[in-house]
Amino acid sequence: MYDLSNYEIKPEPIILGIESSCDETACAIIKGRKILADRIISSASEQALYGGVVPEIASRAHTDAVDEVVALALKDAGISASEVDAVAVTYGAGLLGALLVGLSFAKAFAYANNIPLIAVNHVRGHMAAAYLDDIDLKPPFITLLASGGHTAILHTKSYLEAEVLGGTCDDACGEAFDKVARVLGLPYPGGPNVQRMAQNGRACIDFPSALVRHGDGMTFSYSGLKTAIINYAHNASQKGEEINGADVAASFQKAAIDPLVKKTVECAISRGVTCVTAGGGVVANDYLRSSLTTACKAAGLKLVLPTKRYCTDNAAMIAAEGLSQYLAGNFAPMDINAKAAIKL
Ligand code: KG4
Ligand code: ZN
Repeated sequence: MYDLSNYEIKPEPIILGIESSCDETACAIIKGRKILADRIISSASEQALYGGVVPEIASRAHTDAVDEVVALALKDAGISASEVDAVAVTYGAGLLGALLVGLSFAKAFAYANNIPLIAVNHVRGHMAAAYLDDIDLKPPFITLLASGGHTAILHTKSYLEAEVLGGTCDDACGEAFDKVARVLGLPYPGGPNVQRMAQNGRACIDFPSALVRHGDGMTFSYSGLKTAIINYAHNASQKGEEINGADVAASFQKAAIDPLVKKTVECAISRGVTCVTAGGGVVANDYLRSSLTTACKAAGLKLVLPTKRYCTDNAAMIAAEGLSQYLAGNFAPMDINAKAAIKL
């Protein structure tokens, strides 16, 4: 019988994290904040044939990979399933069928080992990635979140509480990278390919900034920026002119990222916070990383940037967020369901 009534919370638990919200089936094992194992089996190359993530292919790929990825992680960590103290799993947001594979596996794992199940919000996982790179990191800090589904600047006040200071009113920053990649004829996944193309270009085209409203409740818009680029390419093609893809990529990157960096630093200063962190797939972008590093240095702010592997989807960040929830005793019931969308 599944019964946690005698369960004691440990100060340095072994947590097994599972992530399956999109096209990566991932499992990681941490002890405290130390990573013991971190495995990813990705269906990205299969998805690339279709130019984006096909939900049914993702679900099937997770089903094929989940046993293997967990077995590999346990082997890497040199532990057996019975030594795991809790299982943390992404329950949303993401593709419903994909989420259900990881969540069902995690429930069975928790049940079989009579250990707590911890339901992790994927976005909070991205925000927790910084804890893996600086194991002594403590809130408060300002978090820049930029992924394929979310873009926001948050004031992380404690391990469990973050206030949204501003965000996008339409598309996410990563989504804009992926759409601009399509305009430039670049394959999936778009973000890294736009970055590669931008390396040979100059940011000489004046696209509208992603920041559309300043002050309290600052707002970003990536849909407007994307449309400006579509129009730019369309006008050139109507005139029979070739666009310089590298310059478009570099100019887009600047318009998309500069305001995020500027506002992140401004938020830290206005909130009297001395530390900045970041998370989400777009934080793997070299231009963002170098701009944020320079801006934080100039403002005298400490910056904790997760390594690139922990910016894009992975299970170590889910386990890291799971640790905060574990220490607070936030365990999920066995009948918890997956959620396609969760409010930030
Ligand atoms: O965080 P993530 O892996 O998944 C979501 O939770 O959304 O983010 C994926 C997004 C995609 O839009 C991808 O194009 C973008 O992150 N991305 C990048 C880079 N690497 C991934 N965008 C810009 N530059 C990159 N190097
Ligand atoms: Zn993600």
